[in-house]
Amino acid sequence: MTLLIIGALASACSSPKPPAAPAPAPASPPQTLWGDMKPIVSVKELMQYMIDPASDYIFDSVSTVIQPNGRVVDKAPKTDADWEKLRIGAVTLLEGIYLLKVPRPFTPPGDENNSVGPDATELSPAQILAKVQKDPVEWNARIEALRNVGLQVLEIVKKKNTSELWDASENLDVACEQCHASYWYPKEDAEFYRVLDKRLTDFSRSSSAGARSKPPAGSSPGVGR
Ligand code: HEC
Repeated sequence: MTLLIIGALASACSSPKPPAAPAPAPASPPQTLWGDMKPIVSVKELMQYMIDPASDYIFDSVSTVIQPNGRVVDKAPKTDADWEKLRIGAVTLLEGIYLLKVPRPFTPPGDENNSVGPDATELSPAQILAKVQKDPVEWNARIEALRNVGLQVLEIVKKKNTSELWDASENLDVACEQCHASYWYPKEDAEFYRVLDKRLTDFSRSSSAGARSKPPAGSSPGVGR
């Protein structure tokens, strides 16, 4: 900034030279790829076979297990091979998530997600597509949010900083879930969980009262993913 101002003053005060032609705007040239990008699988399969398994390298790297005898065992990366797995996870996520910028079907042919019927919780592939097309900025921001966590993990690997892995794991979970909550199952909002909670409370009341009734239909929709 300072340099720019000095530069402008200097040229204003100097010489009788005719004013220079306006400098071309320093716009970066449009980014060109080295070749075409052609998708093979749907978003759903990319998740199932690349993003999800890669994330497990990170999610599974730290844990606390309470054994039957009450002993608490903390698991964390120790060997070079352990740290290498984290790097594999981070790099695969960092680069792999950019494949969501290549237009591709959201599901394999004929798969409509759980989008039909009164208890449907998921959007159909067509609804997800419409949402991405309407606001590509949000889609790309969610992709970058995941990338930020990948970068955090790479830093942790560099410093072998075990204590921050819990934090990174939590951040990763949030980055995955926020995209899913927006694009995949936005119907699972606060109201959805209020109704579900009420159904479960009613059910446990009626069963603790000794009733042998069946659970209300649809009382266990696909939570816990
Ligand atoms: C930029 C958005 C976005 C991010 C970030 C994202 N996902 Fe997804 N994911 C989706 C969408 C959209 C679907 C639903 C596709 C469909 O079924 O139509 C999905 C579906 C899935 C599925 C379901 C696959 C199946 O077989 O049903 C899994 C598992 C999954 N994601 C895991 C993850 C994990 C783990 C992360 C984080 C490491 C993640 N996703 C991050 C967009 C995202």
